Amino acid sequence: MKIKNKQRKGILLAGGSGTRLHPLTSYTSKQILPVFDKPMIYYPLTTLMLSGIKEILIISSPRDLPNFKNLLGDGRRLGLKIDYAEQLTPNGIAEAFLIGETFIGNSRSALILGDNLFYFQGMRDFLQNASQQIKGSTIFGYYVNNPSNYGVVSFSETGAVQEIVEKPKSTKSNYAVTGLYFYDSDVVEIAKSLTPSERGELEITDINKSYLKRGSLDVKIFSRGTAWLDMGNPKHLLDAANFVRIVEERQGLKIGCPEETAYRMAYIDKNQLTEIIKPIENSDYGLYLKMVAESV
Ligand code: G1P
Repeated sequence: MKIKNKQRKGILLAGGSGTRLHPLTSYTSKQILPVFDKPMIYYPLTTLMLSGIKEILIISSPRDLPNFKNLLGDGRRLGLKIDYAEQLTPNGIAEAFLIGETFIGNSRSALILGDNLFYFQGMRDFLQNASQQIKGSTIFGYYVNNPSNYGVVSFSETGAVQEIVEKPKSTKSNYAVTGLYFYDSDVVEIAKSLTPSERGELEITDINKSYLKRGSLDVKIFSRGTAWLDMGNPKHLLDAANFVRIVEERQGLKIGCPEETAYRMAYIDKNQLTEIIKPIENSDYGLYLKMVAESV
């Protein structure tokens, strides 16, 4: 079914205390740390953009929000409308829907975690297809060798979703739930009905369980060959940076470049891209964007 109602809005959660990255996160946010040649937040931001989303709410701590504002402003230069909101304390991922209630209004929404990097062939079509769903929710499963670190989704023999458990000690499947979620407009009411888990957080897994109970949870599986990386500890941060460097240097094409994505998605035109390039044309990043502007 094609979209008849309003555009889906995006929430990018760049919160959390980032304790596993201490001391790097003692002075700044995890999601602004460099991942090879750009700030971490560029990767999830471009994922939302590739999904066709233009209105984005960035949620972070009062300490770190100004950095994101300095980096991205109101988003107009990227053809976006970016709003900002504070998460006063890290009360869990699902709190994003309480903080974002006014922003969401009666629209459908997508949530992406600020430390998740997705990269695969045909990303734009895949994401836009998932994003077109009107009712219910879509989440994504990814086969990993350490499912206990994640929300885990298991399936019956017929392939139906059986259950979703947050960081189970023993796991029934290897499918981790990734940090990208598409919901209909009911998500705010569902978030309001949650109570904190044992670790004192409003769990995104509880929202997914609620959709599962209503029979309106769609789990799409990312196939082999998909790169899904999270960047929450020093090793994973370096792994992600190396992954980006290897692919970018091999191809001469960038991963997670919002200016390029804005241009290729026609959020901005060639003149606007040229304006972006002017002040940075001596940097490698600027030269890359120049190549993009001249290539089509
Ligand atoms: C969170 C979610 C978990 C999900 C993961 C994806 O975990 O709680 O369900 O699988 O993000 O990155 P956390 O980042 O809080 O460890």
